[in-house]
Amino acid sequence: MNPAPSCVVITGASSGFGAEFARRFARKGADVVLVARRASRLEELAKELTESSGVAAHVVPIDLAAPGAADALMTQLDRRGLSPDGLVNCAGFGIDGPFAESDPQRVTDLVQVNVAALTDLTLRMLPAILNSGHGLLINVASTASYQPIPQIALYAASKAYVRTLTEALWQEAKGSGARILALCPGPSRTEFFSAAGSERFNVGQMVSIEEVVDAAFDAVTKQGAGPTRVVGWRNAVQAHLPRLVPTRATLAITAGLTKG
Ligand SMILES: NC(=O)c1ccc[n+]([C@@H]2O[C@H](COP(=O)([O-])OP(=O)(O)OC[C@H]3O[C@@H](n4cnc5c(N)ncnc54)[C@H](OP(=O)(O)O)[C@@H]3O)[C@@H](O)[C@H]2O)c1
Repeated sequence: MNPAPSCVVITGASSGFGAEFARRFARKGADVVLVARRASRLEELAKELTESSGVAAHVVPIDLAAPGAADALMTQLDRRGLSPDGLVNCAGFGIDGPFAESDPQRVTDLVQVNVAALTDLTLRMLPAILNSGHGLLINVASTASYQPIPQIALYAASKAYVRTLTEALWQEAKGSGARILALCPGPSRTEFFSAAGSERFNVGQMVSIEEVVDAAFDAVTKQGAGPTRVVGWRNAVQAHLPRLVPTRATLAITAGLTKG
C-alpha cells in the first residue's frame, strides 16, 4: 500500500481478522492501536509487533458494548498524543436462535458493538482520515449483509447496516484520496463461532483469515477499486443472487440453511 497510513486503530485486535490486520499493518511500517477487551492478548500482540516490526503498538483495552466507549477510546488517543489516519472496525460478534427468545442484554450489546460503537468511531475518526489525503477506513461487514437470515436475524441486519453505511461513505469520500472499504468475508475459522456458541453462522464458502486480509489489502490498493469486497468467488456470486429472487424465496432458502 502506497503510502500506508501512519497510525491505524484496529478494534477486535485480540483475535481473528483484527489480529491479522494488526500484523500486516505493522509489517508495512504503520503504528497500531490495538483495541478489544482482553488486555493480556493485546499486550502479547503489541510485544510481538514491536519486536518483529519496530513499530509503536499501543494497547487500549476497552469494552465497546459500554455506552460512551468511543469517547473513552478518543480520550486515550488524545492522552497519548496519537492522530490516527487509519481505522479498521473489526470488533463484532453474533447471537443465534429465534430473535423473540434472545437475551435482551446480548441484543443491546450486539447493537452497541456491531453498530453503535462502529458508527461512533467512524464519525469521530473520518475527518482525519479524509484530511490526511491517504487515510483508510475498513469496516468489516459480512456476506450475511446481503440477505435477511432467520435464526441469526439481528447479526445479519447489523452487517447490512455496516455494509450500506460504508458503501455510502465510499462515495462521499471520492476525491479525498482516502480509501474506504466494506469488507464482506464468508465464514472463517476465527474465534467467532465459539464466541457465538453456534455453527449456524457457517453459511457459504469457507475462507481463511489470510485470504480475508489479503482481499482487503488488494481492494484498498487497486486503482479504481469499488466500495465493497466479498471474499471468495462463490460467496461473491451468492451475495448477488438475492437481488434476483423475491424476498420470500430468499427467506425460504436462508431459513433452510440455518434451521437447527
Ligand atoms: N469469522 C467469520 O466467519 C466472519 C465472517 C464474516 C464477518 N465476520 C466479522 O469479522 C469481524 C471479526 O470477527 P472474527 O471472525 O475475527 O472473530 P473473533 O476472532 O471472535 O474476533 C472478534 C473480535 O471482536 C472483539 N470484541 C467482541 N466483543 C467486543 C466488545 N464488547 N468490546 C471490544 N471488543 C470486542 C473480540 O475481542 P475481545 O473478546 O477481547 O473483546 C475479538 O477481538 C466481526 O465483526 C465479525 O462479525 C466474521
